[in-house]
Amino acid sequence: MPAEDDKYPASTGRRRFVKGVVGSATLAGVGTAAAAGIDSATGPTGGGGGIIDFRGVENTKGPAPRGMPQIPLEVDDEGYLKGVWPEPETRVLDNGTEVVEAKMELGGVTYTTEWFQYCGIQTAEGVRPDADQDNYFRYISNSKYDWQNSEVEGDQKVHVDDFADYGSWGNGIGADGLGKPAQAKWRSEDVSSAETLPVQLIRSERIEEMAENNEWIAASTAEGFIANLNKCTHFCCVPTFKALPDSSSAGAEDRIYCQCHQSVYDPFSIVEESFAALPIPEGE
Ligand code: FES
Repeated sequence: MPAEDDKYPASTGRRRFVKGVVGSATLAGVGTAAAAGIDSATGPTGGGGGIIDFRGVENTKGPAPRGMPQIPLEVDDEGYLKGVWPEPETRVLDNGTEVVEAKMELGGVTYTTEWFQYCGIQTAEGVRPDADQDNYFRYISNSKYDWQNSEVEGDQKVHVDDFADYGSWGNGIGADGLGKPAQAKWRSEDVSSAETLPVQLIRSERIEEMAENNEWIAASTAEGFIANLNKCTHFCCVPTFKALPDSSSAGAEDRIYCQCHQSVYDPFSIVEESFAALPIPEGE
């Protein structure tokens, strides 16, 4: 779990969405160290990070060092999918420095936005706890999926009804009926392509079954939908689920496959892992 001193100073110039302000008492002692950029052996200086526990899709093959983090999700009253983002809180330290954090308890797990601080994403506007983003998943243009390119538009919000055929969908790669995928983006409104957060979405009856007896999966998925931040933990390529015919050469036709160096991830195996999250640069 992230230590209390794994916070980072707020960037007041870009903070537009602070939800709560709490006092300094709970950070007394450790907060001053973080504000000064002095940290423990596990924590980098400045913008947060450190050793983070996360839940993600398991890496089962290839050079990737670990799984990719899940994005907990929910379906709103109108049927649109959105990722869960904890309420950001601003804490004022004894020395007057503000720190912002976003974490919550969800399905028995501490979910923090630090799960996404790797592969350069830690510099993206959308990863800032207080970024002014609405959390809806939106389709990308020119996806790897024919159904997506022909039936929905880029930038359109992802809707449950677009996946009505998920129990039987197939595209000739791997088994039909395993799940219907889409490529989406998240917390990436009005940012450059370099700051876009790629998302692999899948709706599958397998996920519905997994949610029946797992508290975390029940809380982090909805109506069979599961999402992960789609940045390969090896060298940060964007993998795909059931998009590449040659994925079968790696036994990955029914998995998430990164063609850069043949890493394979299993979206139907959610694991707990740890990594050293990179800090958000100060002053960004
Ligand atoms: S396997 Fe190397 S970037 Fe994905």
